[in-house]
Amino acid sequence: MRILTGIQPSGKLHIGNYFGAMLPAVQLQDKGEAFYFIADYHAMTSMSDADTLRSNIQDLAIDLLACGLDPAKATIFRQSDVPEVNELAWILSTVCPMGLLERAHSYKDKVAKGLSPNHALFAYPTLMAADILLYDAELVPVGKDQKQHLEMTRDLAGKINDRFGEGTLTIPEAEIADHTAVVPGLDGQKMSKSYNNTIPLAGGKKAIRKSIMRIVTDSTPVEDPKATDGSTVIALYKLFADDEAMQQMITDHQAGGFGYGDFKQRVFDAYWEYFSQVREKRESLEHNLDYVNEVIAQGAQKARAESSKVLDRVRKAVGLR
Ligand code: ADP
Ligand code: TRP
Repeated sequence: MRILTGIQPSGKLHIGNYFGAMLPAVQLQDKGEAFYFIADYHAMTSMSDADTLRSNIQDLAIDLLACGLDPAKATIFRQSDVPEVNELAWILSTVCPMGLLERAHSYKDKVAKGLSPNHALFAYPTLMAADILLYDAELVPVGKDQKQHLEMTRDLAGKINDRFGEGTLTIPEAEIADHTAVVPGLDGQKMSKSYNNTIPLAGGKKAIRKSIMRIVTDSTPVEDPKATDGSTVIALYKLFADDEAMQQMITDHQAGGFGYGDFKQRVFDAYWEYFSQVREKRESLEHNLDYVNEVIAQGAQKARAESSKVLDRVRKAVGLR
């Protein structure tokens, strides 16, 4: 089974990305032939600074490897290393009704938030469909917010097949991560880089501790028992702590006599321990950028070997060849 997913290099990764996207990707690389890519063309729809984009791409490549993606098992590549994806996006756009794009939630949300829309933002779903269809992907693991994009991808592939012949494109299945809990941010809302409520995946001890100390709590006095239901401290601690430590945390909440500063310190200690391996790997990769670049270059070669087969098939089917 061929599994494919992409992640935008649009900012520093946070632990919500780790538990919601990276960890599932690492687990899936053993279940099939995995393709993971850095969606750099897509990131251009929301970023305009060239140096920032360049450094985000580098950081994401390091993070993918540090989190446990293994180039011996998975093809790890950069979207723009296979620019032919734009040709397939063009072909798809010839069967794509305007109404389909006009109904896209993610486009409408961004416009509602005041982003002045450009053509790339509007055409985002056709490029994303091309990302998937160019590699004959069968399974695409994504977050809930991407569900509609996957439906559009299936829809466009179906239109191509209807018009130019069955089997021209492979219709993919989405795997929607409904069961992956949404990681709460420091303020209790969904953790997201847009809400300034994140705990980063990489960073120095002081900076990480400082962000964990910002977790919003109620004002129960130290000596009183504290609520466990709906507590962001508890929800975050659960991600890192073992059962015994977790139980102790709950008992100490219920007993009273412990302050939130103490509890947050435990969250920090557990975080620091949990990510020690990722951190070490990251540091070593930062000193070995040649290796990281080599992995990405080889990934591009493997990706292109697949994409060229699909593109040949599509060009013939539609009459370009
Ligand atoms: P952000 O909301 O910070 O902009 P993205 O939309 O770039 O994050 O998400 C990248 C990936 O991380 C997606 O697969 C998304 O489902 C996952 N993800 C993002 N935030 C969370 C979260 N708080 N909990 C679980 N998964 C998340
Ligand atoms: N749109 C996805 C996101 O923002 C990223 C993405 C681009 C993607 N192309 C893809 C995901 C193809 C899966 C498959 O999260």
